[in-house]
Amino acid sequence: MTNNAIILAGGQGKRMKTDKPKVLCSVLGEPMLEWVIKACESAGLEKLCIIKGYNAAMIDEYLAGRGSKTEISTALQAEQLGTGHAVMQAEDFLKANTDGNILILNGDAPFIDAETINGALEAHINGGCSVTVVTANIADPTGYGRIVRGSSGISAIVEHKDCTAEQLAITEVNSGCYWFRTADLIEVLGELTNDNAQGEYYLTDCIELLMAKGRKAEAFTSHNPSVVLGANDRRALLALNDMARAEIIGRHLDNGVEFTCTDGVSVGTDVTIGQGTVIHAGVILRGSTVIGENCEIGPNCIIEDTEVGSGVSLNNVQAYESVVEDNVKIGPFVQLRPNSHIKRGVKIGDFVEIKNSTIGEYTAVAHLTYVGDSDVGANVNFGCGVVTVNYNGETKARTAIGDNAFIGCNTNLVAPVRIGNGAYTAAGSTITKDVPDNALAIERGKTEIKENYGLRKLKRHKAKYEAAKKAEESK
Ligand code: UD1
Ligand code: CA
Repeated sequence: MTNNAIILAGGQGKRMKTDKPKVLCSVLGEPMLEWVIKACESAGLEKLCIIKGYNAAMIDEYLAGRGSKTEISTALQAEQLGTGHAVMQAEDFLKANTDGNILILNGDAPFIDAETINGALEAHINGGCSVTVVTANIADPTGYGRIVRGSSGISAIVEHKDCTAEQLAITEVNSGCYWFRTADLIEVLGELTNDNAQGEYYLTDCIELLMAKGRKAEAFTSHNPSVVLGANDRRALLALNDMARAEIIGRHLDNGVEFTCTDGVSVGTDVTIGQGTVIHAGVILRGSTVIGENCEIGPNCIIEDTEVGSGVSLNNVQAYESVVEDNVKIGPFVQLRPNSHIKRGVKIGDFVEIKNSTIGEYTAVAHLTYVGDSDVGANVNFGCGVVTVNYNGETKARTAIGDNAFIGCNTNLVAPVRIGNGAYTAAGSTITKDVPDNALAIERGKTEIKENYGLRKLKRHKAKYEAAKKAEESK
């Protein structure tokens, strides 16, 4: 018996006002659908079927781009006629496993978690239920389906638009997450009708249909009310973002991370940060980023899928898919593009870009420099304005720089080229040939001096300046 899940992701989400299917709208940089898939994965569910509908190609593209431990298939709901109709599209998926239970989830409720999924399954099995609905009590139940309790268990779920005045006052709501006995769900799906305020086939009507057959329906009330929260519009999406942001920052505070403020700070769910690290305003940490201990990060950084050691300072830095070792100091205004490896003790100063390169330990790249496709040794000094010329318009080539080399200001290193260990390049040189160890390469015209050249121009030049001064004084 396998435990599988169906995630409903077919709706357009008109109120979100986007071309994307609503479930691809992001919370903390990850689509809501991704949050739901991850909850299923960490709950140990084996097979997932995602119901796609509105702009289905975008769902396919998203799923193709994410690696997955779980087997994920999709079913197309060509017309979006309601949540019950959406589940009908997964008939083959359901019929392949009729002896077990099936979890149904809304793709637009990102805070469902493994604990709730497994807790509800346990209650579902122990209680011998046909359906177990995950519910929560929330202060503002507007828009949610209300849980109508009977003498035992649940007797119905009534959508907000179909509620009587009395039912509107109920604060226990449907999360859109349910465990069904698979065979029972198949049995009642075909009996759903669209006789309601929205003219849709409501999945929630399965509860009453099952009860009528004498089956048991129960609620599993989550102690974490956020599991029910969904986003149907941009305001609700922003509220979910703010909640997730505060939750995650809170977790890092508990771990001994200091936030000087939280303005513009956003930390992704999978990011780890070491104790004693200080995060300043405007820091966005995304993807699989790892930050070590006692670092100073920010203000204004975007660090994505990057591994940062301990004792590192990043000020106004953007870094993508890179590695920064211990005690490195970078910034302000630096970009590390993918596949950059900055070894320990390196200093990188203002307006520097590094791409697909290794920078050896204790090397300094202080200002206005581009290092691309390069292998740089230890203790190298880059003068101001060095450029590795790695692209000839057709192909890319690498630059190699040995340990202890000194690259003069405004040097162009035309790749492929190698600067030897301890070698020097003179300021302003364009280096096109390999430089042997310990040599100096100089490529510069001889300076020619024309005596008294300036005197010819001085009179007119000074007159202009005097006139301007006079005009200003007479004002
Ligand atoms: C649904 C529940 C409501 C519950 C709420 C929790 C029903 C009838 N109502 O309402 O009781 O409180 O979720 O968030 O189920 N979808 C499809 N195809 C469709 C329609 C929807 O795939 O034809 C998908 C949507 O993409 C979405 C999910 O199903 O991910 C829920 O649909 P939505 O229209 O947002 O339902 P709610 O009105 O929020
Ligand atoms: Ca919804």
